Amino acid sequence: MDSALPENSRAMNEKNLELVQQCLKQFDVREEQLRQIQAAVLRDMERALSGQTNPSPTVRMLPTYVRSTPHGTEQGNFLVLELGTSGATLRVLWVTLTGISGPRKEPISWEFTIPMEITLGTGQQLFDFAAGCLVEFLERLKVGSQPIQLGFNFSFPCHQTGLDQSTLISWTKGFRCSGVEGQDVVQLLREAIQRQGAYNIDVVAVVNDTVGTMMSCDPRPQACEIGLVVDTGTNACYMEEARHVGELGEDQGRVCVNVQWGSFGDSGALESVQTPFDLQLDQESLNPGTQRFEKMVGGLYLGELVRLVLIHLAGQRALLGGITSPALLTRGSVHVEHVMEIEDPSHGRARAQAVLQGLGLNPSARDCEQVQQVCGAVSARAAHLCAAALSAILARVKSNQERSHLGIAVATGGRVYEQHPRFSAILQQTVRLLAPDSDTTFVPSEDGRGWGVAIVTAVASRLALHRHHLEETLAPFRLDSEQLKSVQAQMREAMVRGLRGEDSSLPMLPTFVCATPDGTERGDFLALDLGGTNFRVLWVKVGSRSEGGVKITNQVFSIPESVTQGTGQQLFDHIVDCIVDFQKEHGLSGQTLPLGFTFSFPCKQVGLDQGILLNWTKGFKASDCEGQDVVSLLRAAIRRRQGVELNVVAIVNDTVGTMMSCGYEDPHCEVGLIVGTGTNACYMEELCNVSAVPGDKGRMCINMEWGAFGDDSLLQELCTPFDLSVDKASINPGKQRFEKLISGMYLGEIVRHILLHLTRLGVLFRGQVFQCLQTKDIFKTKFLSEIESSDLQRRQVRAILEKLGLPVSCDDALMVREVCQAVSQRAAKLCGAGVAAVVEKIRENRGLEELSVAVGVDGTLYKLHPHFSDQVKDTVRHLAPRCSVRFLQSEDGSGKGAALVTAVACRLAGSTRA
Ligand code: G6P
Ligand code: BGC
Ligand code: BGC
Repeated sequence: MDSALPENSRAMNEKNLELVQQCLKQFDVREEQLRQIQAAVLRDMERALSGQTNPSPTVRMLPTYVRSTPHGTEQGNFLVLELGTSGATLRVLWVTLTGISGPRKEPISWEFTIPMEITLGTGQQLFDFAAGCLVEFLERLKVGSQPIQLGFNFSFPCHQTGLDQSTLISWTKGFRCSGVEGQDVVQLLREAIQRQGAYNIDVVAVVNDTVGTMMSCDPRPQACEIGLVVDTGTNACYMEEARHVGELGEDQGRVCVNVQWGSFGDSGALESVQTPFDLQLDQESLNPGTQRFEKMVGGLYLGELVRLVLIHLAGQRALLGGITSPALLTRGSVHVEHVMEIEDPSHGRARAQAVLQGLGLNPSARDCEQVQQVCGAVSARAAHLCAAALSAILARVKSNQERSHLGIAVATGGRVYEQHPRFSAILQQTVRLLAPDSDTTFVPSEDGRGWGVAIVTAVASRLALHRHHLEETLAPFRLDSEQLKSVQAQMREAMVRGLRGEDSSLPMLPTFVCATPDGTERGDFLALDLGGTNFRVLWVKVGSRSEGGVKITNQVFSIPESVTQGTGQQLFDHIVDCIVDFQKEHGLSGQTLPLGFTFSFPCKQVGLDQGILLNWTKGFKASDCEGQDVVSLLRAAIRRRQGVELNVVAIVNDTVGTMMSCGYEDPHCEVGLIVGTGTNACYMEELCNVSAVPGDKGRMCINMEWGAFGDDSLLQELCTPFDLSVDKASINPGKQRFEKLISGMYLGEIVRHILLHLTRLGVLFRGQVFQCLQTKDIFKTKFLSEIESSDLQRRQVRAILEKLGLPVSCDDALMVREVCQAVSQRAAKLCGAGVAAVVEKIRENRGLEELSVAVGVDGTLYKLHPHFSDQVKDTVRHLAPRCSVRFLQSEDGSGKGAALVTAVACRLAGSTRA
């Protein structure tokens, strides 16, 4: 072209070309720089995943709660709202998913331009604008009033806490609406749709555009595991191992992570490849100092970079004859579309001319050629940098999959990637260079983002339906204050009726324990503790406080089911066998120590050492015992065992033993509470209120046997179908209704029945009813305690369930935990309502404004469940505000209490064996 020119103009041209080349050289990023950037992005990704904050990573690695690539099974019509991918436009789509077999139906879509005053206005304006577009679209589509599920494609950095909960971290890409950062954008959209009040639209999922792109990929033959968008902005997502995403607390399965690589380099990692043009662009941008990587790659900035270079070169008189124009000097006057057109291999030069003339310039052919080079340099760098970041993700996925060679599909989207004549080719070539051991297939999503968002929405709506079923199933377990007050009041009435010997489901059994220990008790005693998880024989030495007070030696003996459900004779002979073994073991053979018998079943006592068993509970069913005096049964067994002398002095209920045992330490302890295999309470009642016992002075401990509360169907309203199933399958249907809502023997079964129900609804375990879930008592109550312990990660929940033979997804684990929480919380609150009724009775008995009292507590559920005891205390505080109640956990069990009752009896009888 120049050969015809005079010498000096040729020299001038060469000098200018030199200047242009020199300037564009700054956009060259060498291979080793790209490798450094690849390594730096990977380092930042790993730092962000593990939650490191110093130095704080500049990629965000945000979990998206999308846990699997599409199955292809999703079906239905979905509305999709796209905001933020392509500049100041908003798109509404109607997507019909036809499942794995159906033909792919093209979405119906509409694009709306968002006025500048909206993108820079208030959040309310933006979301009202969006909701208005939805209505306009639906009006056109004539979809009528059917409920509509919407997927919200919101392409900005958001911290998601669920598929439909997403808080905007910061605006990017020229958006800067006020009052949105830090807000849940789903809520803002829901409110705007409500303000429209036109359609019944439910926003069930919010999705980043990279995720929509990845999910739009046809899973056949290979699902895409990475989503890449280069449009106005740029970003990527990929399927990461859930165990690597610290905030999720999971160890199995995968989750899609939104990398948010736009902010890479915000702490200087890109300084080595940044040019003065990048710095100037950043300075003049809406968000200086942030989104540094995006400002070198995203379409919103490529045109601007070209413009700044042109001004610079014109300033050096190396281009355009040194002449600029007001248009050229106007920020944003060169768009990415211009850049893409100018780089068009066939029409680029002509387009360059048209674009420059459009900017009021008068370019020479040489100018056009060099402007093409400027565009080429800027977009090639963008493609190289994008490839380096993408190669970091490939390296990450390869190490996750522990493979030497990775075969993977990347879904691509965005106008720059799709429409730029060279961008995708340069990117793919650079990826092959930087990640040679990855066989990467690039799958254009063909504007499938909307599709992908609809698939995520379908998954989300399935999960939302599951959540609805779960809430519906658990709602009856969430007792409100009114319901608890009514239980408290009903129990109070039943107590009074029971004490009067009138019809009541509360037996209110006198225990003939009228005094709590006064510390003068002394001597050695034997004690038996039957009725809880373990059967114990105890040797209790009661000495003065200076001698160390009470010393206990005890031994646990098992009682096989064949004995608990055999004959009474077998049971009591077994008990005596254990006593004899214990005496041998501890050198007590031949000694006749006073014995206190904790017998944790409902007994009508006619004396301290006479207790008629009313009915067995807690799975015991030994024959020929009910209606019998169990002390006589024990004595008969002792007699049957030649050469054994035992002096049975007292029979006490475990609640009484627990109250006495704690009362020995704290004289204000006047209530005993057991929440273990079974549940029950006792308390010191005014003798004048106990019609079954003559006399009206002093107090007597009353064993309430509150496990039977509601056996007169008083609690019918509270009973769920699951409670009815548990009761029906129990060995004492219709009995111990209150106990069956509260105690350890039943909570696991209630949970199992709920899990079965939810599985049949398809909510859990993909609707597969596994044998183990149909096995009675397989779900132990101790699992509830384990599953609910707050520091238990989802993975541990899953481990517990997998041990049962259940293949559990992360969502399953979460839902199982919620079921356990609902069941145990109801139990704790009902127990609290019971205690509130008791302490209020004591307060009113004594005509006190305020009562301060202590409750001695024992039982595995109360002691081991992570939240049970606190929930009981909270409920008592709420329902009995005029009582200050201290809960004393019994350390030595009720065996000690039984020995103390025996000691008191011996003291009162004036006979102890020193
Ligand atoms: C302690 C007491 C027993 C009581 C039991 C209830 O062990 O010593 O008398 O029966 O607690 O709790 P559990 O969880 O064992 O049924
Ligand atoms: C946003 C990303 C988005 C990307 C591509 C960025 O500015 O922060 O969330 O994925 O643009 O649209
Ligand atoms: C029994 C009570 C006992 C409670 C706690 C219930 O099943 O009927 O007597 O106190 O369990 O062990």
